[in-house]
Amino acid sequence: MIDPVLWKRHGADLLPGSLRLLDQTRLPCELVYVELDDLESIIDAIRRLVVRGAPAIGCAAAYGLAAVCQHSTASAAGAFLAEAEAASGRLAASRPTAVNLRWALERCLSALRPAASAGATVAGLKRLLIETAQGIFEEDLALSRAMGRHGLSLFEGRAGLGVITHCNAGGLATSGYGTALAPIYAAQEAGLAPRVYADETRPLLQGARLTAWELQRAGVEVTVLCDNMAAALMRQERIGFVIVGADRIAANGDTANKIGTYGLAILARHHGVPFYVAAPYSTIDLAIADGGGIPIEERSGEEVTHGFGRQTAPAGVGVWNPAFDVTPSELITGIVTERGTLRAPLGRSIREFMVSAGAGR
Ligand code: MRU
Repeated sequence: MIDPVLWKRHGADLLPGSLRLLDQTRLPCELVYVELDDLESIIDAIRRLVVRGAPAIGCAAAYGLAAVCQHSTASAAGAFLAEAEAASGRLAASRPTAVNLRWALERCLSALRPAASAGATVAGLKRLLIETAQGIFEEDLALSRAMGRHGLSLFEGRAGLGVITHCNAGGLATSGYGTALAPIYAAQEAGLAPRVYADETRPLLQGARLTAWELQRAGVEVTVLCDNMAAALMRQERIGFVIVGADRIAANGDTANKIGTYGLAILARHHGVPFYVAAPYSTIDLAIADGGGIPIEERSGEEVTHGFGRQTAPAGVGVWNPAFDVTPSELITGIVTERGTLRAPLGRSIREFMVSAGAGR
């Protein structure tokens, strides 16, 4: 059975003054929840990927800001706003690539500022933060559902063929249902019995640990492969399409996503396999002209040399560990959004989409 609201039921809840998160670092073996009520522990949870995936980070940051600010002892709206701005700045810096993080926090502050100037009480501002975070969460769920409906058309003429995905862009990475996995869930609901190949996604194995976990729970046929096996798979079996999520899409369509996505896009082009990105408007950053301007997070070398508790490289060896790469727009067949699939020329399609989404910021 499909469980679309995975994140809400198994991911996060806003308790009075604290944030409850499913610890994704413990999946797939343990279902462990953490309750966080202070800024430092919420920042630490985002950095350590307790919660991860661009839209989910945005939701967690908004809920986290709301939770932390419930403890404020400020007596005046101005002082409360200053505290919220400072906390938001700290949260925004926790991970650099996913634009949804900043987008969600900016939306919270944009709700607070006019209310504070209009004479709202501190209690009113605290309530407003909770409502805004809930609004972001609910909107994200609706966007995921819509991406699923639109993405269903990708299966036309390809039903029965395998679909490759990379990293985790499912219910765990959003408020539920997912971006890249949304069309898969929609296909499953439509009785198309999709077959998914999940790249394991080195070094942190989001594909093997998280995508395989949530697809298997939903009854979707899923096969895990190491990242370096995708080329052989494309040669051996006719693959219907590749679909991945995104952490930030520049104005020209260049897309930052989990490291390894770029290589997969090149393989897809070589083998004539369509390559799709799925993302909501909140992942598009019109302020960045092309992928060269997207900040790429570099993570600790230990994730490569000591993954999951075992040393796998000589002590002291140099390591390069970027968490994301950028796939140039010319390798992307289309971007599945909540309003349909954007196609080349992607720059123009993105501009028109953002205007129609009322998000031309
Ligand atoms: O480092 P992560 O696990 O946060 O990276 C996540 C991804 O790259 C996802 O593909 C992306 O955020 C899209 S999630 C809908």
